[in-house]
Amino acid sequence: QTGMFTYDPGFTSTASCQSAITYIDGGEGILLHRGYPIDQLAEKARFLEVAYLLLHGDLPKQDEFEEFRHNITYHTMVHEQLAQFFRGFRRDAHPMAVMTGVVGALSAFYHDSTDITDPQQRLIASHRLIAKMPTIAAMAYKYSVGQPFVYPRNDLSYTGNFLNMTFSVPAEEYEVNPIIENAMRRIFILHADHEQNASTSTVRLAGSSGANPFACIASGIACLWGPAHGGANEAALNMLREIGESKNVKQYVDRAKDKNDPFRLMGFGHRVYKNYDPRAKVMQQTAEEVLKELNISDPVLDVARELEHIALNDDYFIEKKLYPNVDFYSGIILSAIGFPTEMFTALFALARTTGWVAQWNEMISDPEQKIGRPRQLYVGATQRDYVPLEDR
Ligand code: SDX
Repeated sequence: QTGMFTYDPGFTSTASCQSAITYIDGGEGILLHRGYPIDQLAEKARFLEVAYLLLHGDLPKQDEFEEFRHNITYHTMVHEQLAQFFRGFRRDAHPMAVMTGVVGALSAFYHDSTDITDPQQRLIASHRLIAKMPTIAAMAYKYSVGQPFVYPRNDLSYTGNFLNMTFSVPAEEYEVNPIIENAMRRIFILHADHEQNASTSTVRLAGSSGANPFACIASGIACLWGPAHGGANEAALNMLREIGESKNVKQYVDRAKDKNDPFRLMGFGHRVYKNYDPRAKVMQQTAEEVLKELNISDPVLDVARELEHIALNDDYFIEKKLYPNVDFYSGIILSAIGFPTEMFTALFALARTTGWVAQWNEMISDPEQKIGRPRQLYVGATQRDYVPLEDR
């Protein structure tokens, strides 16, 4: 018994790990970060407050927050040599391919923060990763559009700095729009951590061997890229655009129900949530607010609303307990802000780095932790003797 939760011993014996960071109740649609409900954090907290909470277990007091913000802010630049890595990519490389490569390359730069047995070095590696991901994501975008890289600025917030590095150009002043900054803050918080999802489990498994922390995060980025996982936000907006108009929604819902058709509604369904993903609710509100405040009328939002309405009232989706997930509305907001669809999953990786780093630290600092070794159910051939090639 801890607090309001009681654990089924049977469950812990099958669980892949024990963690105190994020609690999900998939049946009730509950998501807590260190006990705090996601909608409260998304509404009221700065992103770096949530990063501190995930990493250290409690919301920071003022002095703790100032120190943490300083530690992050003063690690936002990347080594000038790292910029050379981008030059090796084609301009049309997918940003997730670039992020996987460049973040992996960080493991060749910081030898002073990779002794994972030293808590201080673990913390420095964690700060570096949280700090540099926005810089690297913005560089991936700038490289893809042929614009010069923009250096970080210490006078801006974590989110505002990212927007400036992404959208400002040397030729003119760039003002961070507070509406967009607030929307990005919420989106980063909604993506920060989500318990033992596929990419977090990848980071934990890679880290359990004692591998370089930067390389472990690169493995998480690779896993997140898949369309069944973080790649769903890009696929969901492409799907909504393909549907085009509300009158076409029904035929796509019917395709999603057809067992012989591999088509699935992207942004729908979840391994754990069998109720509405609480993040999707906040994302929908944010989509409505941002499009209204930016005075953008995107027909895709009407298609999304119609798709949600039809699916949530369809017996197939009700029986399978399929609801919109975090990826269903996020692309509409990101597109309205000006990001190309290829950047959506890179933004998911940027935000999720905070959760990956918190989960990695939790695992590495557990003196009982051992190298991961998932088991299998062997269904192959029984033992048999070798037959020489000429006799086969
Ligand atoms: C993320 O794990 C996490 O926490 C991930 C994540 C995070 O923050 O890290 O939340 C982020 O990855 C969200 C999910 C993003 N992916 C998508 O939106 C892609 C579309 N969704 C699906 O591919 C699917 O829903 C999965 C992959 C998310 C879950 O697949 P499962 O485990 O097969 O889902 P399920 O067991 O609940 O499916 C029940 C049934 C199945 O049919 P039957 O085998 O029972 O006949 O529903 C069907 C599925 O085929 N189904 C769908 C569907 N999702 C499941 N049918 C149509 N459209 C869908 N989207």
